[in-house]
Amino acid sequence: MTESKQDRVLIFDTTLRDGEQSPGATMSHSEKLEIASLLDEMGVDIIEAGFPIASEGDFQAVSEIAKNARNAVICGLARANLGDIDRAWEAVKHAPQGRIHTFIGTSPLHRDITALDMDGMVARIHDTVTHARNLCDDVQWSPMDATRTEHDFLCRVVETAIKAGATTINIPDTVGYTYPRESAELIRMLLERVPGADAITFATHCHNDLGMATANALAAVEAGARQVECTINGLGERAGNTALEEVVMALRVRGDILPYATGIDTTKIMGLSRMVAAVSGFPVQYNKAVVGKNAFAHESGIHQDGMLKNKETFEIMRPEDIGLAATNLVMGKHSGRAALRAKLSELGYELGDNQLKDVFVRFKALADRKKEVYDDDLIALMAETSLSDEDAYLQVKRLRVICGTEGPQEAELTMRIGGVERFVDATGDGPVDATFNAVKMLHPHEARLELYQVHAVTEGTDAQATVSVRLALDGVVYSGQSSDTDTVVASAKAYVNALNRLVMHQHRGNLSALMSSAG
Ligand code: KIV
Ligand code: ZN
Repeated sequence: MTESKQDRVLIFDTTLRDGEQSPGATMSHSEKLEIASLLDEMGVDIIEAGFPIASEGDFQAVSEIAKNARNAVICGLARANLGDIDRAWEAVKHAPQGRIHTFIGTSPLHRDITALDMDGMVARIHDTVTHARNLCDDVQWSPMDATRTEHDFLCRVVETAIKAGATTINIPDTVGYTYPRESAELIRMLLERVPGADAITFATHCHNDLGMATANALAAVEAGARQVECTINGLGERAGNTALEEVVMALRVRGDILPYATGIDTTKIMGLSRMVAAVSGFPVQYNKAVVGKNAFAHESGIHQDGMLKNKETFEIMRPEDIGLAATNLVMGKHSGRAALRAKLSELGYELGDNQLKDVFVRFKALADRKKEVYDDDLIALMAETSLSDEDAYLQVKRLRVICGTEGPQEAELTMRIGGVERFVDATGDGPVDATFNAVKMLHPHEARLELYQVHAVTEGTDAQATVSVRLALDGVVYSGQSSDTDTVVASAKAYVNALNRLVMHQHRGNLSALMSSAG
């Protein structure tokens, strides 16, 4: 049987745009490129690669992602003005298939902010969508805050955008306010009332403020939406966006009531989830649907007994379906490169030869310090690899801490800052405090330490520690994470990771400010 347009749901991933807008989740250029390449390989239909007008860095990232694209359509976001649209086109035009996504807030609250009355807004939509369509055949238009826009006006603006040439109309629940029945009714209403609606694709874009983003997206699909906008791990502003892994696996597991296909290779889900958690500095909650550490863990006696007799008693999907393989291969210092490559591949990481060479050196160093290297150690090592960007502005080079029962403790730290090595000797109330003081002496800043958290990756006194650090400055949060068998080294690197995000953010201006001036 061949798949018709009605059976297929397009997956539009906005991890690199809406996900990256999440406070503290700023990603580096190379991290963005790597995530985009994995998304493309996984079968995502459209990748929203960024907001090209936001900064030179965003523009460069979208342009390069567009140049590297293989199968996915590469999309750039633009507000409803000609300058934004031209810049988005300049970036995405390099892609084999590029898309311009332009938007304006249409609810009464947003009309107030943009100081446009209804007629003024309709004229703006007509002009901007027409301009975008003159540049590019693939134009997506969104009425931001659609779920709080009057229905008659929503029909009018959607009709205007379609007439001006929009090929996809996205209906955002910008503030995570809607409810599944309402989400479905809105799509049905638009399909019934708007002339030309059957000729374009409707998309659903939900936020998770009330925990209903996935349910609202699936309800919209049942009503006729054929594009779901989502992010890996549900990363996104405030409570996040619809999680890609939840939508894709729900469509797969419940094909009986949701008979729609996606083009996603689900075995790539876990690798991407780990990658996004590592580079964004947002760890996945243990009980997160599909990709949480406990999503396939069975602790209680009754559950374990049932699982041993028949896995289907308590498992609606198989771990291997999302790229989680259960294996007995324990790694240690005698394991070779081929074994490491095989193990990492089972864990969802496909490495090129150069990358493997680098990871192997780190693995050997870890195996020298730790007798047995478990899966979780390797996951932490991979997270560490993606975070220790060679281009990072601040890099920890050497650290020596002098501790004893008599304080204060002392830290001798060498860092590379903007390419130059510098050394300092600092004291503090404990080894971590001394180390953080040393970092601050080498790179003075005003950010406040909001969170410092340590957890052991595995068991035993030689276990690696994963340290999470959160810094705040002027209402913006910057997260950093690192793992090492030495807790103080992990702390120093996590702190420096968070500072690197702060530096990156300062270089690229404030995205949120741009979004709120969406006119
Ligand atoms: O949530 C939202 O409204 C958005 C738009 C830019 C589509 O992200
Ligand atoms: Zn959004």
